Amino acid sequence: MKFKNYVKVQSLEEAYTLNQKKSSRVLGGMLWMRLGHGQFGTAIDLSGLGLDEIEETAEEFRIGCMVTLRQLELHEGLQAYTKDAIRESVRHIVGVQFRNLATVGGSIFGRFGFSDVLTMFLALDTEVELYPSGRMSLEEFSQEKRTNDILARLIVKKHRQSCVYLSQRNTKTDFPVLTCAVSVDEQGARAVIGATPARARVYPLPEEAVQMLESAGNLGAAEHRPEKQLEDAGCLDTAEREKVWKTAAAKLAVQIPTSSNMRGSAAYRTHLVKVLVQRALEALWQQKQQRVCGGMAEAECCDGVCQQDEKSQTRDERSVQISANMTAEGASVPQSELPITLTLNGKRTAAVVPADQTLYDFLRERNCYSVKCGCDTSNCGLCTVLLDGKPVLSCSMLAVRTDGHCVDTMEGLQEEAEEFGRFVALQGAEQCGFCNPGMIMNAIALFRELQDPTDEEIQEYLAGNLCRCSGYEGQTRAIREFQRYRAGITN
Ligand SMILES: Cc1cc2nc3c(=O)[nH]c(=O)nc-3n(C[C@H](O)[C@H](O)[C@H](O)COP(=O)(O)OP(=O)(O)OC[C@H]3O[C@@H](n4cnc5c(N)ncnc54)[C@H](O)[C@@H]3O)c2cc1C
Ligand code: FES
Ligand code: FES
Repeated sequence: MKFKNYVKVQSLEEAYTLNQKKSSRVLGGMLWMRLGHGQFGTAIDLSGLGLDEIEETAEEFRIGCMVTLRQLELHEGLQAYTKDAIRESVRHIVGVQFRNLATVGGSIFGRFGFSDVLTMFLALDTEVELYPSGRMSLEEFSQEKRTNDILARLIVKKHRQSCVYLSQRNTKTDFPVLTCAVSVDEQGARAVIGATPARARVYPLPEEAVQMLESAGNLGAAEHRPEKQLEDAGCLDTAEREKVWKTAAAKLAVQIPTSSNMRGSAAYRTHLVKVLVQRALEALWQQKQQRVCGGMAEAECCDGVCQQDEKSQTRDERSVQISANMTAEGASVPQSELPITLTLNGKRTAAVVPADQTLYDFLRERNCYSVKCGCDTSNCGLCTVLLDGKPVLSCSMLAVRTDGHCVDTMEGLQEEAEEFGRFVALQGAEQCGFCNPGMIMNAIALFRELQDPTDEEIQEYLAGNLCRCSGYEGQTRAIREFQRYRAGITN
């Protein structure tokens, strides 16, 4: 994929104006876009607009389009509000290095059939903030044709809600065969099913499931819940609940069209609809029974929040608000070559780079030969480097985006890499050795980010580093042993 020019825009107005040209492309994390081929005109970079933050107020979350999937995963407020459903929806997507680059804007604007992210946000009361068209519901947006608008933010309204996210994959980190999110709030109870393989859609939950879920919510806090009341509501009877979930899931399955592709047949997907909806309903019931209320005490949560209603505002009024907030502050000129200054392995480095040069090519040109390219499709993790201390895929990032940042490769982390590398060799985790530079870089990031990770956390962190020889057990052992050594444990 080639770009003639690159521009870091100063305003949404500027981005929108440039985006009216057919040959222009707005850059999210660029991970999906770069899988395409072709010569494009101007790459429009939104990363200077402060849209890389998640703001939380009493009424809503405002999620900028440049927020990464990893930021979503680590945001405590979002996890508390969704009871970890958001984390569950993104944690299987390729690897940590990938999720440090992929953006919410690119994921939602792309409206991909396989999208875990779209499925998840459709289950919440989510609006998109478009420039210049204004706000609309995510559900409406997801069914619309692509326009040249700029997606500025997602707005998730807070309610007293419960939600559960589940997906099925043939192998870890692969695209999902089916995605499923189920949620209940005062606006209704819905199931969102995606990767059918078509784009996710919202379906109302069948009445019997809603009634059963309501009975869980009406039972009162655990200490005030007499057994008798539970029994009367039929809620202690697991078999009874299972029957209700099964009927509801079967009713949904007949409404949801599925088809076949390389990941699964239509029949398998229909079967998965039944299985995942059933499991999600039971998990949702358990959540409601424990009086989960978006991570807040019920009184706090319902105190005024649920009465918030912005629906009376028209789309045009909202559009004006966004425009007023984001006026042009002078346009930037798209350039085919750009000067950048970064700190590379501790040294201030200035260079002039072509608009479409990847960070990988930039680093190799500067003799950082530890950085290697395995797949060139954002899958293998071999090209991992640290950007401001976080692991990213250098094959999937533009060099120009490192301007003003710190990049570390193994050349700059020799001591740390050698020290850990000895443990990798001792545990037989280095066989052909091809994957090692990327794995070691990601392990260094892991040691910095997680103090005492569990085996599951280690495996999840390293999931984006493919190894064709070792079976990953040796790598997990090496990390465990290295941590013991660093903690001074000798036996
Ligand atoms: C190998 C691979 C595996 C993946 N696996 C999964 C998976 O299992 N589950 C899943 O949910 N997703 C998966 N994805 C998708 C991924 O999570 C992202 O959704 C995808 O990469 C798009 O995000 P991005 O930031 O890279 O967007 P980009 O690739 O930069 O952009 C995607 C499109 O959106 C446009 N765009 C981006 N931002 C904006 C904006 N603010 N306004 C207007 N237009 C915009 C771009 O012009 C482009 O057309 C996978 C992607 C890849 C490459
Ligand atoms: S992920 Fe970059 S080369 Fe494979
Ligand atoms: S050791 Fe051969 S690919 Fe990992």
